[in-house]
Amino acid sequence: MRIGPYLIEPALALAPMAGVTDRAFRILCKRLGAGLAASEMTIDDPRFWSTPKSRSRMNHSGEPGLIAVQIAGADPLRLAEAARHNVAQGAQIIDINMGCPAKKVCNAEAGSALMRDEALVARICSAVVRAVPVPVSLKMRTGWARAHRNGPAVARIAEDCGIAALAVHGRTREELYAGAAEYDTIAAIKQAVRIPLWANGDIDTPEKAREVLRHTGADGLMIGRAAQGRPWIFREIAHFLATGERLPAPSPRQVGGLLLQHLDALYELYGEAAGLRVARKHIQWYCRSHAGSEAFWQAVNRVDSAPLQRQLVCGFFDLDPGRLAQAA
Ligand SMILES: Cc1cc2nc3c(=O)[nH]c(=O)nc-3n(C[C@H](O)[C@H](O)[C@H](O)COP(=O)(O)O)c2cc1C
Repeated sequence: MRIGPYLIEPALALAPMAGVTDRAFRILCKRLGAGLAASEMTIDDPRFWSTPKSRSRMNHSGEPGLIAVQIAGADPLRLAEAARHNVAQGAQIIDINMGCPAKKVCNAEAGSALMRDEALVARICSAVVRAVPVPVSLKMRTGWARAHRNGPAVARIAEDCGIAALAVHGRTREELYAGAAEYDTIAAIKQAVRIPLWANGDIDTPEKAREVLRHTGADGLMIGRAAQGRPWIFREIAHFLATGERLPAPSPRQVGGLLLQHLDALYELYGEAAGLRVARKHIQWYCRSHAGSEAFWQAVNRVDSAPLQRQLVCGFFDLDPGRLAQAA
């Protein structure tokens, strides 16, 4: 898949997820087969850009491959400024968030709420595209509400304004995350424009990936929740799409080895005290399909030292901490 001057190979992207897709997780997903991994969103209010949280979000050091940063807001000029700021920090692709239904975003009439106001969509897309020399993508839903699936209209507006790629989540804003994603509207959006498109929503197996690609005619797939605790899903899907065959699932020890690498990256990124708290939800995701995970996760939740957290993980996955290189 090509976005502006960039060839994205494989055409599999990690979906932006606030609180999840930090630098540690993006690096892991890219190592395990994601062709692109967008950062968590940066809000368009400059007062928040210098907070430790924002600074950490805007720090891309050591991140391999393309740096894609999502921005969120509703004011065209402020979004343009946020885009410029992120490009100055190293962003090579700017993504505008019109896909997120989160209250914090939508209360401010940003995220997917923007799809209700097509004139504003045009002003935002134009302002951001004009502000930066890098490609700008737009992440959207299929529409504002089930009765208003205006995704194709929004997509055409975006294309006319110079947007270089679209990512479409197969639900409307009204549906939040309920029910199943539908792909007919994504297919209609793909037909409506010439720019490349990521199909997104409920893609959780290699077979589903192939089915969504066929159904929508999308150029690439974007995966969110199914990558939580399973960052190797990208290489599984890439392999299946290329060969029609499934890779063997990683062994528990391999899973444990990857989780330990993830934990070490989190401790480094946030410091041990904050890192071990961020790590808890990831640990739960990695171990959810393993026997005894509930009791293990409760034990993990009670621990507030990084070395102890690590030790528990080693015990659960039967890992010798001294021989981790082999496990991964
Ligand atoms: C915890 C969480 C945080 C999310 N944060 C964002 C965000 O910051 N920006 C955005 O555009 N979408 C956000 N999303 C939506 C995802 O990018 C994606 O569109 C959605 O989860 C559907 O894809 P999936 O079924 O593969 O998870 C978030 C989703 C989740 C579950």
